[in-house]
Amino acid sequence: MNKTEINLRFLAACATAREAGMLVRTRFLERDNVLKLKFKGPQDYLTETDGEVEQLIARRLADVFPDDAFLGEEYGGDIDDKLWVVDPIDGTADFARGVPYFCVSIAFVLRGNTEIGIVYDPMADELFTAIRGGGARLNNRPIKVSEIAKIEESVIELGWSSRVPFDGYARVHARFNELGASVKRCGSGALGLVYVAMGRQDAYCELHINAWDAAAAALIVQESGGWTNPFLTPECLQRGNEIIACTPQLRNIIEESMMLGH
Ligand code: IPD
Ligand code: CA
Repeated sequence: MNKTEINLRFLAACATAREAGMLVRTRFLERDNVLKLKFKGPQDYLTETDGEVEQLIARRLADVFPDDAFLGEEYGGDIDDKLWVVDPIDGTADFARGVPYFCVSIAFVLRGNTEIGIVYDPMADELFTAIRGGGARLNNRPIKVSEIAKIEESVIELGWSSRVPFDGYARVHARFNELGASVKRCGSGALGLVYVAMGRQDAYCELHINAWDAAAAALIVQESGGWTNPFLTPECLQRGNEIIACTPQLRNIIEESMMLGH
């Protein structure tokens, strides 16, 4: 695929993320004050907006690139050489509970490599973008990871979901605390990762996360000078993977600590 075709996809993905984000924002602002919460399973919220927004994104991309495949959190899809990987709302629990911390995530993956990553936070109007080899940007301004090199000065976000046993998470959490890091968990893997890309925190780690949560944001971290594990393997597209993303100086100590989780 040539550069022009990648650039066309980048522009379409940015416009689609903004439009989708505006729909998420509208649905968030018009929600009832008395929340009628629905669940798919324990701690797994069901909102109609996730499906509505995923369909909008799938339609917009299929209109312009009818031959590209599509994999989304809500309706799944088929994996192919030219593939869009989409999370319509990452941070669904916060969205459902009325907390304004969530985003739209769109990645374009060519023969297994993420070429484009877009994460849009519609409440803060922050559009994080990257094209492989072209650097990372926030609202079109270049961003880079922090220069924090000491774990005792670092802020680490450690995500967790009930897909993995709690004791592994607890061991890693304890280790980071013993090492002197400030450890938090906020509820959107994609936003947690792009916050690393722009130096708001120094690492984002999770023992298991799905491809649609982290594919776009992992490229944004790499393009902002950060390090990530080889996240988007072929198995990851089917089943998810561990994600470790941090400043290059923190790589060894964070990788070692994450091993305690397995
Ligand atoms: C979840 C969030 C959460 C992470 C989970 C994800 P969702 O996605 O990214 O921060 O810890 O692993 O499943 O359910 O909000 O789309
Ligand atoms: Ca998600």
